[in-house]
Amino acid sequence: KKKREDMLHLGNSWTPNIDRLAADGVRLTQHLAAASLCTPSRAAFLTGRYPIRSGMVSSTGLRVLQWVAVSGGLPPNETTFAKTLRDQGYVTGLVGKWHLGLNCESSADHCHHPLSHGFDHFYGTPFSMMGDCVPSEISEKRAGLERRLNLCCHLVAVAALTLTAGKLLHLMPGSWTPVIWSALLAALLFVCSAALGPLIAHADCFLMRNHSITEQPMRFRRTTVQMLEDVSRFLQRNKQAPFLLFVSFLHVHTPLITTETFRGRSLHGPYGDNVEEMDWMVGQVLDVLDTEGLTHKTLVYFSSDHGGSLEARFGNHQYGGWNGIYKGGKGMGGWEGGIRVPGIFRWPGVLPAGRVVQEPTSQMDVFPTVVRLGGGQVPPDRVIDGRDLLPLLLGTAEHSDHEFLMHYCESFLHAARWHQRDRGTVWKVHFVTPVFQPDGAGACYGRMVCPCFGDQVTHHDPPLLFDLSRDPSEAHPLTPDTEPLFHQVVERVAEAVRDHQQTLSPVPLQLDSPDNVWKPWLQPCCGPFPLCWCDREADPQ
Ligand SMILES: *[C@@H]1O[C@H](CO)[C@@H](O)[C@H](O)[C@H]1NC(C)=O
Repeated sequence: KKKREDMLHLGNSWTPNIDRLAADGVRLTQHLAAASLCTPSRAAFLTGRYPIRSGMVSSTGLRVLQWVAVSGGLPPNETTFAKTLRDQGYVTGLVGKWHLGLNCESSADHCHHPLSHGFDHFYGTPFSMMGDCVPSEISEKRAGLERRLNLCCHLVAVAALTLTAGKLLHLMPGSWTPVIWSALLAALLFVCSAALGPLIAHADCFLMRNHSITEQPMRFRRTTVQMLEDVSRFLQRNKQAPFLLFVSFLHVHTPLITTETFRGRSLHGPYGDNVEEMDWMVGQVLDVLDTEGLTHKTLVYFSSDHGGSLEARFGNHQYGGWNGIYKGGKGMGGWEGGIRVPGIFRWPGVLPAGRVVQEPTSQMDVFPTVVRLGGGQVPPDRVIDGRDLLPLLLGTAEHSDHEFLMHYCESFLHAARWHQRDRGTVWKVHFVTPVFQPDGAGACYGRMVCPCFGDQVTHHDPPLLFDLSRDPSEAHPLTPDTEPLFHQVVERVAEAVRDHQQTLSPVPLQLDSPDNVWKPWLQPCCGPFPLCWCDREADPQ
């Protein structure tokens, strides 16, 4: 209660730093991620292309890269804005989460590593922060694997017992060898299942500085501070040079690494605490810009790779956030809640403070915008889906360049948006939607995310149509009776979808197996395998 009163004295805002950023910059209220999960969304953000173009999607339900030791990842022939800016003389850095792959053929070829994609500096995790990294948190993949291992263990144990009984009752001739082997296998499976938690934490949850592992597994208590220190050092080191820094927070997936100071502070439970800590981190980064005299020379962009996860619940807590008035959430291809994300651009003295843009914009727009600001050129040999945002940010253009935006779920097109400028209407057409569990719950409870295909989705013919300009919550589907333009709009959008599909060419899908299964020979390990353990940047005290 005391803490809460202190906060109220700070002006009644729980995210004062992000609010300040928005007040001093341009706020985009219809800003969209190209996918509702992190790996594909990040790929699109960095390349300015729908993830289906780079193959950073699956078609079989593996929605993100599953392990560090998979061979899939952002293909080496994709161009990130970091690569273009580095070629223009910028010093480029990434601090935090990557989750776009690491190796192709050996445990240290680093073909998908940030340093192979245009970053001069990397400090962070090549994977993602997830529940399985932290003992006692909700499991994201451990529980499922444990179930399968336990099942195998039980089957083998039953077989071993049957064989033993057969031998003892003299029903089975021959040696005891099969009995011994099956008993050993059952024991091995039992040990693996018991050790699974720590094994996953060692395999996936580690920190790297450039090409070297510095901490395996990560010590979460200090990660937040380490990241901020690295950001600060990067800015101090490079303040004279043109630089690009991507600060990719590990917050706020689910509230995994909230430090002591921020726990129990928010009115919104552990998730709110984690958001408040992230806000504080944003403030720390902005303070460094101020201290180093960089504020007026730096364009700051703030966003999130997708919407909150409605399915993530822990005890009584909504653990994956909320999406306000928007329907659906993380993992759903088309509903606004999964893809509408914060969008703030601040550049004091250049961009008008307090401007609000309601036009549809995409995270893919960052690519051409930043490339142009850096004096570079977008690669002419491929389709770029992003559009230069600068005119819209400056206020010299009234409308966004996006007439249509496609909303994919894995490699399946679930929905499309049409900004009909002459009427000022934003239409949204859903061809496929997930089947909620239980019916009408608004999410797929009991699963991690809603599926994109199969019997757990509904195909709509005619499609569902909403007028987002009047109904941003997608609560009232239009019909030919309630909307005279129904057939015209649906036909126009279908035509745009056909045009879009013509521009796609087949590429290998990086998130499908066999590129998205754990391969022992790709497992980075900073000690002798399987003892992947080190702590190379430990505090000297
Ligand atoms: C990258 O290489 C793949 C083949 O591995 C190819 O299908 C794709 O078109 C290439 N992409 C670009 C942008 O050149």
